[in-house]
Order: sequence, then structure tokens, then C-alpha cells
Amino acid sequence: MKEIKILQGKEPQTIEGKSTKGGWHSHDYLHENEKFSTLKSEIVNLSQEAMTHLDIIDEMIPSMTGMWAVVNGPGSSNRLHNHPYNYLSGVFYLQVPPKSGALIFHDPRPQSEILSPPKKLGESIHTSHRVSWNPKPNDLLFFPSWLYHEVEENNSHEERIVISFNIELTRSKKND
Ligand SMILES: [Fe+2]
Repeated sequence: MKEIKILQGKEPQTIEGKSTKGGWHSHDYLHENEKFSTLKSEIVNLSQEAMTHLDIIDEMIPSMTGMWAVVNGPGSSNRLHNHPYNYLSGVFYLQVPPKSGALIFHDPRPQSEILSPPKKLGESIHTSHRVSWNPKPNDLLFFPSWLYHEVEENNSHEERIVISFNIELTRSKKND
């Protein structure tokens, strides 16, 4: 977290064209920064567990294509977006005060809600058109890069600080 604050001091302007609305977004090559190498390795190792869960063959190798920090102060949020040209994306939560904003995934089929009947409270995530994730500090979440998502407005009085990343898969050469 200290490193993120140093970066924010060096690059106070948020990067244009990102989903951040009112918050701060670092450059997206933190995975090339030595100070973040341990975190990068841990995430890549854990992504292999996610790949096992997804029944992906052992020859596929994950590599990180981008990593960045997002600091959402009170009142800021992230617009609806996805992460093109990647397979897995994710987020590591460093500081998420209560009411600082859930992560909301949206059904990627734009017309899917049109004929959807009213649903009961507590509807299953398997039938819902939107799924909320209320993060806790130190949570690490992977999701498909194509899945649209947004972050609610930070309604706390503190900053919400996360690191996000993208991972692509390539086939190992030895099995070509
Ligand atoms: Fe995102």
C-alpha cells in the first residue's frame, strides 16, 4: 500500500480512458515493477488453481499482461467495462472500508432482462442478471475478462484501494 501511495504522489493524474470515475488509476504495467514482483508471482500461481477449477489443460501457461492500482476516494466509482484481449482478470483488495462500493457483474447478454419476470429477494447467482461481490481486505477474486462489471460509488469516508490485473494464456512450447 505504501508503494501505491508513492506512485500516486509521482503520477497524480489518473490515466485517461479507464473506467475510473473520480478516482485515481495508476499506469497498467505494475507487473514489470520489482516492488510488485512477489504479488505478481502469487497471483499467477493462484491463477493456475483457477485454471484447474476451469478444467483447462496443463499445457496452458498463464502470464500477466497488466497490473494497476485503483484508489477510489469518497464519491468515486468505476463505470461498466470489461477487459478485452485477456482470458482471466481479477482484483486484490487492499483497503475496502464498509460502504466503499461492491463490485457488480452484469449479464453480458444486453437484452436478457427484457422478458425477465420479477424475482424473489436472494435470487440465485445462477439465474440473476446482476451479481454483487462485497469485498473484504485481502480478498483476491478472478473473473472472466469478457464479463462486464462496475464498482459502486464509495459511500464511506475513506479510500478504497485495490490492485487489478489481466492474465492471458499461451500453450507451452514443449508440447507443440
Ligand atoms: Fe475492471
